[in-house]
Amino acid sequence: MAATIMLVDADAVNSSDWKTFLQNQGYSVIGVETGRTAIQRCPEVKPDLVLLSSSLPDMPAFQVCKRLKADPLNRLTPVILVVPDSEQFEASRAHRAGADDFWSKPASRWEAFNRVDTILQLKTYIDQQAEEVLYALARSIELKTPMMTGHSERLSDYTVQFGAHLGLTTDELELLRTGSLLHDIGKVAVPDHILLKPERLSPQEMRIMRRHPVVGEEICAPLKSFRHLLPLIRHHHERPDGSGYPDGLVGDSIPLSAQILQMADIFDALTTDRPYRKEMSVGDALAVMQREANQGQLSQTLLKEFSIFVWTTKLWWCGRETPLWGLNAN
Ligand SMILES: [Fe+2]
Ligand SMILES: [Fe+2]
Repeated sequence: MAATIMLVDADAVNSSDWKTFLQNQGYSVIGVETGRTAIQRCPEVKPDLVLLSSSLPDMPAFQVCKRLKADPLNRLTPVILVVPDSEQFEASRAHRAGADDFWSKPASRWEAFNRVDTILQLKTYIDQQAEEVLYALARSIELKTPMMTGHSERLSDYTVQFGAHLGLTTDELELLRTGSLLHDIGKVAVPDHILLKPERLSPQEMRIMRRHPVVGEEICAPLKSFRHLLPLIRHHHERPDGSGYPDGLVGDSIPLSAQILQMADIFDALTTDRPYRKEMSVGDALAVMQREANQGQLSQTLLKEFSIFVWTTKLWWCGRETPLWGLNAN
């Protein structure tokens, strides 16, 4: 996919020349004329790079840069300040404002293209490394709790197969796959004495544990490639009757991906050993989930589909060497 560049420049002629040139090199270019518009649109446009002219009509470019970088959604987006030749430019001020680089107007458009291309390649590399680190971090949290080992991988199998059963698109299935692997990454901020506590959590400990969807969203937000996962990570503990967290969303306002993930999450929790009980059979687990649906805590419609899916696909084999205890797998 073509990289997107946000061009912030009030000079219509200059902006149009740059836009045409960059588009001819295969980039997708969004032009904006003011600092405020850039700050407002950047989180929604999610550019791969911002070229920011130093002379804007509404606010100093330093300030625009600072505000762009202060937003977690833009933190990893390179911002390049472009200054006129004649201007006495303060490099230290640009760096303090968070600019990744600053240029006086390049000698030629080709020089500009080379610099943009280099920065974008570097950014792609850094993003890939950061993604690997986050996957490793999510795995390491799971490894702390031996009973949770393999949970995310199983969840990934469950959600993708269930999503396919529901007729979701390839992109939506990919979202479920990666979201399943990362959904509990925010537990990195939960102290071990709470995370590993076998007994019931106190109200204070529960409050700390319940912050993990928001922390997970904050951890993944700076990476553009994880941006589409944020609603799933934030809302995977919401309940249709509004009793969930962190936002108490109700009914269909909970993203479908988050509802699918939660259903698989509960199913996996019930069908695996816990310190306080043995794993349940598939029939018992679905009966518990049906009681939750009757109380409004799960979608009846989705659970009906999930039950059909579980029985028809023999879901319980996913990620297991042996079927669940007490089951006839035929
Ligand atoms: Fe969670
Ligand atoms: Fe989970």
